[in-house]
Amino acid sequence: MGRWRRVSVVALVLLLFSACHGRELFVKNHEQSFIYDHTLAKTLVEYASAVYMTDLTALYTWTCSRCNDLTQDFEMRSLIVDVENCLQAFVGVAHNLNAIIVAIRGTQENSVQNWIKDLVWKQLDLSYPNMPNAKVHSGFFSSYNNTILRLAITSAVHKARETYGDINIIVTGHSMGGAMATFCALDLAINLGRDDVQLMTFGQPRVGNAAFASCFAKYVPNTIRLVHGHDIVPHLPPYISFLPHLTYHHFPREVWVHDSEGNTTEQICDASGEDPNCCRCLSILSLSIQDHFTYLGVDMEADDWSTCRIITAQSVERFQKDLASNIIMKNHDVDVSIVGGSEDRRNSFR
Ligand SMILES: *[C@@H]1O[C@H](CO)[C@@H](O)[C@H](O)[C@H]1NC(C)=O
Ligand SMILES: *[C@@H]1O[C@H](CO)[C@@H](O)[C@H](O)[C@H]1NC(C)=O
Repeated sequence: MGRWRRVSVVALVLLLFSACHGRELFVKNHEQSFIYDHTLAKTLVEYASAVYMTDLTALYTWTCSRCNDLTQDFEMRSLIVDVENCLQAFVGVAHNLNAIIVAIRGTQENSVQNWIKDLVWKQLDLSYPNMPNAKVHSGFFSSYNNTILRLAITSAVHKARETYGDINIIVTGHSMGGAMATFCALDLAINLGRDDVQLMTFGQPRVGNAAFASCFAKYVPNTIRLVHGHDIVPHLPPYISFLPHLTYHHFPREVWVHDSEGNTTEQICDASGEDPNCCRCLSILSLSIQDHFTYLGVDMEADDWSTCRIITAQSVERFQKDLASNIIMKNHDVDVSIVGGSEDRRNSFR
């Protein structure tokens, strides 16, 4: 199958990059402040999975097939859709966690395989504003910063804080959604002046260089990147251990979930961001795409990958009909921001 041929090309490129093991770059982090909460991870993975759903009515009313279990008491506050760029996010309040949740979905448009293949060649082509030497990939950054996401998410977070006060803020996402969640968490931490914004991502790629990782860890120390088994995406774009200052570099902290002799281990990795004993210890040739699509037993795919734009446009249309005919019942305000559909709308519905 073509899928596997492409993956082995990626694996071979990685093999070239990783042929030599140099010294590890150490990213400063406060060891004592680190907590990994398995139940929280189980809950957040359900939010990161739910944001993939294409039925907007079911998301808005929080009745989708993935909108239950540990996320049952979620109060949707803002639903954000950018049809053109295939972006989707929501902001709301998880009462059982007493926290504002921001979830951003991945954007692999037509083919995940091609998206993964392209990850190998992403350049560090943007200097992160106001961070000396910090470089990131402009595509990852601008998907958050230069689209509807930034404005809609920050204003939804501000509004939720007006209602609920100074409760925790947790940002989550899977895959490319994890990359955008990274920039979102950093943005919120800087703009709200808080060092307790939490980030938990699932199978995210690297997004910046070592200087960025180090700065990021100071602003958002409460960060966990879950990596499932042999998932190939967290290995991309490549980290070159003998050129640690020039290449991509993960920020801490990885939690590597893998099976060993029939038991599932959640291995908490070191504060370097590139722990050689965590997922990086895998043979490059054993990396897989399959492990990218389930995290903690939860399905992390959209209901339909291949036709992102079409499905979203259709569901936007149906959603707008449902809104117009008042089929949707809600006992509180939900902001809806949709751009790039048949018509743009930013509105508040009761
Ligand atoms: C990020 O977005 C803001 C507006 O929301 C814009 O002023 C700024 O230039 C953007 N940053 C970059 C580096 O594109
Ligand atoms: C796996 O779990 C079983 C039951 O809890 C235990 O007896 C066994 O030692 C574990 N194996 C490993 C390799 O940790």
